[in-house]
Amino acid sequence: MPASPTATPEHIKDVNTRYHDAAAHEYNAKWGIDFGATGQKQVRLKLSKALGGLKGRSFGDGLEIGSGTGYFSLNLLQMGTIERLTATDISPGMLDALSRTAEQLGLEAETIATEAEELPFEDESFDIVFGHAVLHHIPDLERAFGEFQRVLRPGGVIAFCGEPSRYGDRLAALPKRTALLAAPVWRRVVQARERAVPEVEQSNGHALEGEVDVHAFAPADLRRLLSATGFEDRRVGGEELLANAWGWGLRTVESTAEPESVSFGWRRFAFNSYIALQKVDTRLLEPRLPAELFYNLLVSGRKPI
Ligand SMILES: C[S@@+](CC[C@H](N)C(=O)[O-])C[C@H]1O[C@@H](n2cnc3c(N)ncnc32)[C@H](O)[C@@H]1O
Repeated sequence: MPASPTATPEHIKDVNTRYHDAAAHEYNAKWGIDFGATGQKQVRLKLSKALGGLKGRSFGDGLEIGSGTGYFSLNLLQMGTIERLTATDISPGMLDALSRTAEQLGLEAETIATEAEELPFEDESFDIVFGHAVLHHIPDLERAFGEFQRVLRPGGVIAFCGEPSRYGDRLAALPKRTALLAAPVWRRVVQARERAVPEVEQSNGHALEGEVDVHAFAPADLRRLLSATGFEDRRVGGEELLANAWGWGLRTVESTAEPESVSFGWRRFAFNSYIALQKVDTRLLEPRLPAELFYNLLVSGRKPI
């Protein structure tokens, strides 16, 4: 459910900060975020799709917007796709979690709590500005894209992945509803225990979940935004249809069970089936179907030299 159309930008940013601060400690577990080979492969695939290919390309100074706990940036840093990282987020709690993981992985990451519409950096400081699942939270996207353009060096690129498409967002409601109906049968079959406290009631922050999203995009909205803010080599693509519907179904049934009662065997099956469907999406559907049909949109552009 998106934020109310009458919500002010200040309210949206405040709710985003409080919601993500509250979500930070369980965020990696909730979303199955991985910092090993699997996570790196997933992130590289997404960035490559957004940019229309990577082919061993790397970037010197990388700035992540809405970095959360570091899913995108720490994986890119580990692979050497970016050499130096500045991770930003409106939520200090998320950045604390990112710093702890960076330390465990032996990585250097500068973290700065800031909102995307006003970045505390000099002009022309970065070679790539990127993010995952963040644009849909930002109230004034034209202002934010203007900032991305300002802090990029000439010839630098932006790349954002995992943005909900308008149609895909509606499509995801169906597997969620179906999975909720099927959940009692699923729990019996996999012998998982029903969750005593529903996930949505687990922390104060969850009460804010319905207010943090501001946009779901049509590809044309993102193309207009890139063009209005002066980016060249503009690309907008779609990603994941079958994998996403299946993934939402899996996540919904799992959210009805006590996490420790869900067996390793089930989790392995869930992950492998998701990856198999992702391959079908990548090889068969994404090259053939229009971007708007997919759940996630990917967007990239280049600052003119
Ligand atoms: C859905 S999470 C994604 C986190 C991370 N990129 C990932 O993929 O795991 C969205 C993130 O954007 C941040 N965020 C929300 N509004 C923001 C804003 N106006 N400026 C900067 N970050 C924002 C949130 O605090 C949160 O960490």
